[in-house]
Amino acid sequence: MEIDLKVDVGKIELKNPLLLASGCAGYGLEFDDFFDVSKVGGVCLKGLSINESKGNNPPRIWETPSGMMNAIGLQNIGIKNFLKEKAPHLRKIDTVFVANFYGHKVEEYVEAAKMLDDEECIKALEMNISCPNISAGGIQFGVDPLLVHKVVSEVRKETKKPLCVKLTPSGNIKETAKSAFEAGADALVAINTIPAMAIDTEKMDFRIFNKVGGLSGPAIHPIAVKMVFDVVSEVPIPIIGCGGVEKGSDGIEFLLLGARAFQVGTALFYNPKAPLDIINELKEYLKRKGFNSIKEIIGKIKTKEKEKCL
Ligand SMILES: Cc1cc2nc3c(=O)[nH]c(=O)nc-3n(C[C@H](O)[C@H](O)[C@H](O)COP(=O)(O)O)c2cc1C
Repeated sequence: MEIDLKVDVGKIELKNPLLLASGCAGYGLEFDDFFDVSKVGGVCLKGLSINESKGNNPPRIWETPSGMMNAIGLQNIGIKNFLKEKAPHLRKIDTVFVANFYGHKVEEYVEAAKMLDDEECIKALEMNISCPNISAGGIQFGVDPLLVHKVVSEVRKETKKPLCVKLTPSGNIKETAKSAFEAGADALVAINTIPAMAIDTEKMDFRIFNKVGGLSGPAIHPIAVKMVFDVVSEVPIPIIGCGGVEKGSDGIEFLLLGARAFQVGTALFYNPKAPLDIINELKEYLKRKGFNSIKEIIGKIKTKEKEKCL
């Protein structure tokens, strides 16, 4: 019997629970040489802003044990160019495209969401709230529950599309998750990269021009698992796990805790075919465990019991 991998993340229907993470899969067309992108449940596109952005100066990437740090600086082609040059190609591909977007002011988030709202190839929006708010002295939107509430509720009013909010691991994730839910988010993604730093002792300088980078990859997976655990027990909306998934069992961890889907990011850089391997591993796991459908394992582990001290 064919194993059923279909899941839904609220109103978003996916053929399987694997999405490519934003910033790691370009605009959905870059993986053509490696695999047919319609095989994955969805693709979160590179974070878009109203205007084109050139990002940060190099060096922007540093490899770490079991991970990498990046400070790309949200380089992107801008929403107008995306709609003109990329969207017509994406309309022909049978998977769910999710537009990741950001701003540096509440008004920029709202404007970006409005610009994306009528594009038919975009089935959902993913708000990256790990950005500094220049109207509030540069504090990240995502660490302050009040700012999260403000920016999510303003965007919510202006879009008909399902709205996913991508949480930052900085700050109190239970509080920010609650704020995003109360402000009208349809789903939450946990987590974005973790702020990190590396020093070149020979040059006596920072490894990354921006000094701080975001750590991603297998190194952050157990942290992401803990944060998904925290969030699923806090809010009643669907959660998408993200952080360090490189094999089937990593994604299954998120699903067992109650996440409806998961994303694969950094693994694509060292194994571009990882999504196909992971999808096969999901099927093999379900067969071995005697399940016919992936939905049967979602939330199999109860998360309500209180934790004891470490
Ligand atoms: C090079 C790079 C660029 C990224 N760009 C974005 C982005 O534009 N928007 C966003 O929300 N997350 C971005 N991320 C974060 C990833 O989508 C993901 O949340 C994070 O890397 C953790 O998942 P992973 O360990 O599977 O990579 C980026 C990550 C990397 C490594």
